Amino acid sequence: MGETVVDILRFLTDHFGEDFHSYSQSLAEKRIAERVKQLRLPGLSEYHQFLQRDCGEPAYLSRMLRIRFSSFFRDPLQFELLRSQIMSSLLPASSQGGFLRAWSAACAGGEEPCSLAIIIDETLQMLDVHPKVQIFATDVAEDALEEGRAGYYATGSLGGVTLQQLKTYFTPDGTGYRISPKILSMISYCRHDLLDPHTYAPPESLFGGFDLICCRNFLMYLDPQAYLRVFDNLFRALNPGGVLLLGKAESVPERYHQHLVRIFECGNLYRKQQTGRT
Ligand SMILES: C[S@@+](CC[C@H](N)C(=O)[O-])C[C@H]1O[C@@H](n2cnc3c(N)ncnc32)[C@H](O)[C@@H]1O
Repeated sequence: MGETVVDILRFLTDHFGEDFHSYSQSLAEKRIAERVKQLRLPGLSEYHQFLQRDCGEPAYLSRMLRIRFSSFFRDPLQFELLRSQIMSSLLPASSQGGFLRAWSAACAGGEEPCSLAIIIDETLQMLDVHPKVQIFATDVAEDALEEGRAGYYATGSLGGVTLQQLKTYFTPDGTGYRISPKILSMISYCRHDLLDPHTYAPPESLFGGFDLICCRNFLMYLDPQAYLRVFDNLFRALNPGGVLLLGKAESVPERYHQHLVRIFECGNLYRKQQTGRT
């Protein structure tokens, strides 16, 4: 990485008090070069000066580096496998109660936790069981969490939603759709920085591990050491027998191959073995 890209990342790290060095080098270089071009600046040192001068620029660049894109049921096959083949195995044994705890880590504007909540609700209705469901949805970006809490989505993000789900769980509102209060009430949005070295899971989720963790399309943007560090935390937070969903371009590090077993050939879903220790 050129000296000036390192300087730019150091500036962001100092400015926000958050880790900007753990994103992959090539991603940081590409994104910063894109921004330099957008602003029609001659080079990186001019951009570095601009970043220090313009009070809105640090937030703008941090958003570019952290890539916000998401959509409902992004990777429909993965969600279908979860719904039709796995979900019922994650429910507590007692039909009268118990807990189901899920974590959508790096949840963007809530499309992923809402997709999970819809699948969980459909399964509970079908089996006529009523456990207490807690879905923690976390992201480092406060404005993403605000979007999640507002529960309002542009039509373009609803690509993977079926007509039946659209009728049951959404209400048209202006140019978009509002998620139903029932789904919203299943989700707790809170800020959690997955690169924070001091916590391994959202503090709000204390008292117990998770039966289901979704961490999709975030790890792929990290350098190899940070990838392992975050993965260690996810593994630790997952209950034995629990299920982990990764993004299409993400995989289980070798040291976890024995402890996290791929459930199907496709779909990137893994189950933590009952004796899952490293
Ligand atoms: C590409 S989106 C993925 C959204 C969703 N998981 C999906 O697959 O559709 C990446 C998300 O990671 C979040 N993110 C980036 N750095 C993070 C960090 N250090 N801790 C937690 N979330 C982070 C971004 O704010 C963004 O919302």
